[in-house]
Amino acid sequence: MKQLFTSQKNIIYLNSGSLSLTPLQTIKAVQKFEEEYENNPTAHLFRSWLDLWEVQKKVASHFQADPKQFFFRSNVTQPLNEFILGAPLPPGSEILTTNQEYGAIFNICQYRVQTDGLKLRTVEFPKKIEFQNLTEKSLIDLIVSAFRPETKMLVLSHIYTGHGLILPIFEICKEARKRGITTIIDGAHTPGAFPLDFRQFSDVDYFAGNLHKWWMGPKGTAFGWVNPLRNNDLKPLQAGWTTFESYPPFNELAEGSRFAQKMFMLGCQNFSPFYALEETLNFWESQKTENILGRLKTLGHHLVSEMNRADFSRFGANDLRLHGPLYTFEIPLKLQNRPYHELMLKILNETQVQVAIVILEEKLHLRLAPHIYNTKEEITGAVSRLKQFFR
Ligand SMILES: Cc1ncc(COP(=O)(O)O)c(C=O)c1O
Repeated sequence: MKQLFTSQKNIIYLNSGSLSLTPLQTIKAVQKFEEEYENNPTAHLFRSWLDLWEVQKKVASHFQADPKQFFFRSNVTQPLNEFILGAPLPPGSEILTTNQEYGAIFNICQYRVQTDGLKLRTVEFPKKIEFQNLTEKSLIDLIVSAFRPETKMLVLSHIYTGHGLILPIFEICKEARKRGITTIIDGAHTPGAFPLDFRQFSDVDYFAGNLHKWWMGPKGTAFGWVNPLRNNDLKPLQAGWTTFESYPPFNELAEGSRFAQKMFMLGCQNFSPFYALEETLNFWESQKTENILGRLKTLGHHLVSEMNRADFSRFGANDLRLHGPLYTFEIPLKLQNRPYHELMLKILNETQVQVAIVILEEKLHLRLAPHIYNTKEEITGAVSRLKQFFR
């Protein structure tokens, strides 16, 4: 498997939670498209959007989604802005979210409530001790019991950045739908870490996923998905060629769907990372989704058992089935008094292991996120170096 990726020089890469490595065949495809484009940028530009629609159809179908409800963006922050700022909310209503969301996405919620004079309320997750005993049922109860009549929008991560916990979003969104609450799911970590199938999403209103994390797509690739029930509600934040009836090639996009055209990624840009998604798709099809997800689990369980043996205390639910491929551990008190990025760099310099440092309950924690290009031997080696470092 390792030979399918760029070989890491002198480091063990254990932070696929921020960005994964991309298979060599995809990197080569990006380069090939860039070179071809340079041969005649004008000729390429005018067919770019129709070519992009062809890729959109393939990637959407891979996730069993209707391509007309699916649109590309460069990262997940973009569609989440479009959803949180663009979905309608009546005066006096409340956005409900949690204290575990990714900071940038929490800020979008804050921006919406400040702009429109609304309220923002956060559900507090239990502290470490009770956190360990979380179950699917207790997670559903935690969120659903926080709904109030004024709650009109719910913004939740599917897989949490801090500790990898997976929320049972389908059950939660079903309860929200019954109460007329609009649901927006931050799926930054979902594609490639979870068997994503949009046929299960009938109760979800809006979803955004990254392709450059666990799905191993080129850097700068992500998508948004909108439930067809919401096509007339969402107010696009940007306008361009397709906002009104247009002429070729724009009116030929997406089989004429006005919604898909309005949400399409328009304007001149670097199209190569998106064209190269087809190569990532080939990678998933040749390596088989179930094998990749199985390997993620095997490596994760190996990591957790090695970290246990090295006496690291994990922050997370005891039931590993509730977790995606990110695993988080406590850090000794003596290392708490420095900024997180300095500690990350110090660990890299002294151990040659690339980790992430995250903040949970106001303390720095160590987050490790292996992917299929890591080996069990590497993980064992990394754990022994980390043990030495934290001693
Ligand atoms: C849960 C979550 N949401 C959103 C993001 C933002 O992703 P991006 O920078 O690709 O938009 C991240 C990035 O780590 C994340 O973990």
